[in-house]
Amino acid sequence: MSDYNSHQKLQHPHPATNISVIKHNYNMSEIIVKENAPNLFPNGDYVSPGFATVKPDSCFPNMVLGNKYDSSWLYLRRDIPHNWYVDQRRHGVGFVSRDEAHILYNTALKFTGKKALEIGCWMGWSACHLALGGVELDVIDPMLSEQLFHESVSDSLKRAGVQESVNLIPGYSPAKVAEIGNKFNRKWSLIFIDGHHEAPAPLNDVIICEQLAEDDALILFHDLSSPDVGQGLDYLRAKGWHTMVYQTMQIMGVAWRGNVEPVTHQPDNTIDWRLPPHLQSYTVSGANQTGKPSQFTSFLQAIQPYTLLSEAQLFALYSQGQQVYDYLFWLPKILWQAISRNKF
Ligand SMILES: C[S@@+](CC[C@H](N)C(=O)[O-])C[C@H]1O[C@@H](n2cnc3c(N)ncnc32)[C@H](O)[C@@H]1O
Repeated sequence: MSDYNSHQKLQHPHPATNISVIKHNYNMSEIIVKENAPNLFPNGDYVSPGFATVKPDSCFPNMVLGNKYDSSWLYLRRDIPHNWYVDQRRHGVGFVSRDEAHILYNTALKFTGKKALEIGCWMGWSACHLALGGVELDVIDPMLSEQLFHESVSDSLKRAGVQESVNLIPGYSPAKVAEIGNKFNRKWSLIFIDGHHEAPAPLNDVIICEQLAEDDALILFHDLSSPDVGQGLDYLRAKGWHTMVYQTMQIMGVAWRGNVEPVTHQPDNTIDWRLPPHLQSYTVSGANQTGKPSQFTSFLQAIQPYTLLSEAQLFALYSQGQQVYDYLFWLPKILWQAISRNKF
């Protein structure tokens, strides 16, 4: 990784369109940035009002709209009508959504020039948004030991003009995080965790990250729709960190301590958002806390006289039942998609 000073952004507001173009001084790639621009993104993309926007799509030539039934992951929220982007060479794994990418970008803008860490980059979409925010980024992912991934991520970062500020490190968290932290005596101000999603991995990632976070630090999570990932946020809250969740396609979370502040996000108000039971006790950024869905209230009234279970236990059962119901509803499409893929 080269000296961060070589990475200088020049912002030029275009007089006619009010579009600011970011130019990176070593390869002059251009990425459109515009405040609250209508029609900047395709239908199905949502970005919270108030966010600075960035669109590095041209740096990811293999990025296509994914089919949510290509993934069999239980916690993929297939009912959220936001675009799910994938790499056409490996279509079963999704990128952070447009809105989520902007939470990363706008958070990184608050940490410009600081050291940041990402666990789990896949094809580099999230890393690119963090780096465009101006942080000096270490990225750890085992896939980076594969030529296809390393070359593809490097190429995208280069096109975006941020390659010089990103350090791609093949390896597994938490061991690799500890190794880098110790070897370079490194502490990170901003950390994004989107690596191995099954317990106890997310918790183990958080434990090492907390040890290697600066006193003023912020940690972002992706895929909080999974209770296994939620364990990491619970851990930080129990350790005294401030915490909050973002209602996005996969639900993001943020924990922070010291003299830093998270961005405020406005959830897409065209969607009837649900919060899974493991996140019910968290504040949702920018949302009126609407409480439990009305269907649950009817269910509660019907069932409570016949059970000794508490309302919280009943709500957990209700939500889990709903999750299983959704999944069984989606399962034929997931199977059909898998069969079609193998056939053609
Ligand atoms: C969902 S993908 C990340 C997507 C990416 N953040 C984006 O939105 O562009 C999850 C990534 O975590 C990586 N991963 C899995 N286990 C890991 C581990 N122990 N340490 C670091 N990364 C890991 C996978 O190789 C994969 O690339």
